[in-house]
Amino acid sequence: MAQEDVFKKIVAHCKEYGFVFPSSDIYDGLAAVYDYGQNGVELKNNIKQYWWQSMVLLHDNIVGIDSAIFMHPTIWKASGHVDAFNDPLIDNRDSKKRYRADVLIEDEIAKYDDKINKEVVKAAKRFKENFDEEKYRATSPRVLELQQKRDALHARYSAAMNAMDLNELRQIILDEEIVCPISGTKNWTEVRQFNLMFSTEMGSTADGAMKVYLRPETAQGIFVNYLNVQKTGRMKIPFGIAQIGKAFRNEIVARQFIFRMREFEQMEMQFFVRPGTEMEWFSKWKETRMKWHQALGFGADHYRFHDHEKLAHYANAATDVEFLMPFGFKEVEGIHSRTNFDLSQHEKFSGKSIKYFDPETNESYTPYVIETSIGVDRMFLSVMSAAYTEEQLENGETRVVLKLPAALAPVKLAVLPLVKKDGLPEKAREIVNDLKFHFNTIYDEKDSIGKRYRRQDAVGTPYCVTVDHDTLNDNCVTLRNRDTMQQERVAISELNAIIADRVNITSLLKKLQ
Ligand code: GAP
Repeated sequence: MAQEDVFKKIVAHCKEYGFVFPSSDIYDGLAAVYDYGQNGVELKNNIKQYWWQSMVLLHDNIVGIDSAIFMHPTIWKASGHVDAFNDPLIDNRDSKKRYRADVLIEDEIAKYDDKINKEVVKAAKRFKENFDEEKYRATSPRVLELQQKRDALHARYSAAMNAMDLNELRQIILDEEIVCPISGTKNWTEVRQFNLMFSTEMGSTADGAMKVYLRPETAQGIFVNYLNVQKTGRMKIPFGIAQIGKAFRNEIVARQFIFRMREFEQMEMQFFVRPGTEMEWFSKWKETRMKWHQALGFGADHYRFHDHEKLAHYANAATDVEFLMPFGFKEVEGIHSRTNFDLSQHEKFSGKSIKYFDPETNESYTPYVIETSIGVDRMFLSVMSAAYTEEQLENGETRVVLKLPAALAPVKLAVLPLVKKDGLPEKAREIVNDLKFHFNTIYDEKDSIGKRYRRQDAVGTPYCVTVDHDTLNDNCVTLRNRDTMQQERVAISELNAIIADRVNITSLLKKLQ
């Protein structure tokens, strides 16, 4: 199945099974804004819990905070977001549609990559087992020609972005003869800068009201609380502050479902270190974060690092953790060495000293910062993409199963009475009432047992137990495993011990030690 079709199926599945709905659905939705349904919120909470506990529980030098979304507007001046948090935009005069100039060019680069890959796939089919991909890429005249064009375009584009040369970005679009996907024309306007922050007014009268922003990242809430936390928690460097919260960006190219949203959630951790040690910590955090991702068990081949060629003016190193989505490798998390830029800026703009006195070196300094910043929604999408599976069964039927890591699954156990009579529902409810204190357990009696299994497969429930007539005599149930579909007879008294260990977040956290 084409990856595009897989992605459409995942989006449809998310809606059909109560994971993600378009916001304001009955009013035909609101672009790039989404709501999480009854299963989505559980999965999302489990992702957040996995992250939070891996930071705050497993590290005795990391603490959490929850700062407000509204902040003093000067914060965004100090951080550089008022002046520099911009996207270069271009309009097509015929369709009246607006695009990000950088995205139009990146899409063009991706087309070259696609063409090259298609050549390689064709050749692999032709030469079969004798195919040497590396040699083919290095010698095929057609591939070399495409690669050379792609690299030249990439180099020109990188230079234009580094210099934020808006005229050059437009010229690239014209030279590459990029057309508007709607009108099909090349009738482009100039490229302009567009600030991504949403703003609103705080205060009762229009005259006295103050312009405030909806935060575009949670990180600044950590920076401006650095001193409060350091002093009240008597924290010693190195230490970290973690936060999970909403962020808002007026994204112009909002697409690919929950990949790029206007309202989204971030899980960020700022780690404050002694100047000069930041590269060592940058490497440590890269390793720690990759381990966190890979502990989910989707396979190491689903992840890669992508080091930034263009560094933000405050960073001295940056990398993305990319995940293999149905539409290719995409950024899920950023790990940045932000120097002492943010704290120094807040010192300058607030006029307050944010220096740290280091008792070990007897020096005062502004700490350097390593940041790990991951989007909850992107993480959610990566988990759904990897878990969504269509399996051909021996009887010719297809089953759709979400192979979610058990610790992230919305429901851990479904208890199903074989029939709705003879005391089986009462026995099943007894089991639910006992186990619900340990993990998310539900009761389901509607439809045939086969249909109920399928329903639980589709939402990723790792275990089902069936209560039958024998249960009333032997106090045993049939336990079914979602992935293998194997069934075994187990005592009701054993259920908690068998299941709890495999479905609790602790099972993931133990892999990180
Ligand atoms: N404090 C650093 C920061 O915000 P970023 O690379 O702009 O860095 C970090 O964002 C993460 O936030 C990204 O890796 C991504 O997972 C998530 N993210 C950013 N913009 C997003 C959007 N419009 N929709 C969904 N997630 C987004």
